[in-house]
Amino acid sequence: MAQDLRSYLEQIKRRKPEDFKIVAKPVDPAYEITALVVKLEREAKQRPVLLFENVKGTKFPVLTNLHASRPRLAAAMGVAPEETQRAYLRAMEKPLAPKVVKTGPVKEVILTGQKINLYDLPQMVHHEGDAGPYLTAAISFAKDPTAEVWNCAYNRLMIKGRDTTSIHLTTGKHLWEFHRIAESRGEPLPVALVIGVHPAIALGALAIGSIDEDERYSLGERQREVVRVKAITHRRDAMFQDITVAHLDHLLLSTIPIEANLYRAVRAMVPSVKAVRVPGPFTCFVSIEQRVPGQAKNAIMAVLGADLYMKRVVVVDHDVTPAAPTSTPRRGRTATRQSGAWTRRPSPRSPPTRRATACRPRSGSGSTSRTSSRSGGGAELRQPSRGERGPLA
Ligand SMILES: Cc1cc2nc3c(=O)[nH]c(=O)nc-3n(C[C@H](O)[C@H](O)[C@H](O)COP(=O)(O)O)c2cc1C
Repeated sequence: MAQDLRSYLEQIKRRKPEDFKIVAKPVDPAYEITALVVKLEREAKQRPVLLFENVKGTKFPVLTNLHASRPRLAAAMGVAPEETQRAYLRAMEKPLAPKVVKTGPVKEVILTGQKINLYDLPQMVHHEGDAGPYLTAAISFAKDPTAEVWNCAYNRLMIKGRDTTSIHLTTGKHLWEFHRIAESRGEPLPVALVIGVHPAIALGALAIGSIDEDERYSLGERQREVVRVKAITHRRDAMFQDITVAHLDHLLLSTIPIEANLYRAVRAMVPSVKAVRVPGPFTCFVSIEQRVPGQAKNAIMAVLGADLYMKRVVVVDHDVTPAAPTSTPRRGRTATRQSGAWTRRPSPRSPPTRRATACRPRSGSGSTSRTSSRSGGGAELRQPSRGERGPLA
């Protein structure tokens, strides 16, 4: 199995050459790269890995769309697509300890002091309304200031100066908590940010992830924590990885870890759980074999307790297969979110809350209803088509 990003790219080229496309024409990192990813995804229904060799204003080629297909992510884990959840659960149950090494190719170039210049990197602007260029594929590694506990997560950074970025720390998450602890001790929080890893490492970094994109609504101006960069290291012929946030590259990468995490959470409450599917942001389908009345509700509460962002949970009988939907539903609301519990609220610019009918219940409707199908042979649960976004399949 491929061990690093470069050998993984070679594996893709061998396995499915049309899955890797090189763009030699000069492109602007502001909007053009994202525009091409989205156009390919929406119009051509293609999701290849893209390498832009000639990016204006930088010597670094830009690699993007790496995670935009389930079969590619499955290949990164060395399993068939239908095996990803089982493989991820196995890895969660038996995690491998990291091996610390003295050095590696990433230290071929070491830049410190006045040599640090974040403006030498591709200045990626993804969407209208972005306040500046963002690094979207950086995985943070930090230690709890009070314990030997390490955390890694994706945290987006906005380039603010030669050696300065802001960082997006979701309230209540681990890195946010570590930063609060450090701040209360009057100390900075050391953090390493890594760009360009093998997708299996990217999946591992999201072991307790959630999808926090408010369906492509810009969140507006906010105060953010600041990162001061002390060193940049890279390979001599480094590529720069980008993730097109709020599109498949981001959402699919998040989905496999979330589904495994939610499966574990539901299994702790309802051992007869059969499947958990997250077809899009804020939505979860759970199929269970209900042994005693009330277990469907237990499953709903387990999901809501395990994911701050989850808004709709639909529990179905085990003979219903939660399939990939034809589109992502719009924002909905769940009736069972306990008042007083911390949850991520919709962004201020989100459209008014709408209730999404995420399945075809026999009677009644509502996003957190328990629906049953006894049609035998396995029915399919599908989203109503609103024609906005493709499936996370
Ligand atoms: C491409 C991508 C970008 C993300 N960006 C952010 C971010 O900017 N801030 C954040 O808090 N979480 C972000 N996330 C989600 C977190 O990485 C994820 O929820 C993580 O597991 C939780 O972080 P924690 O370990 O600090 O609790 C992103 C995930 C992906 C896949």
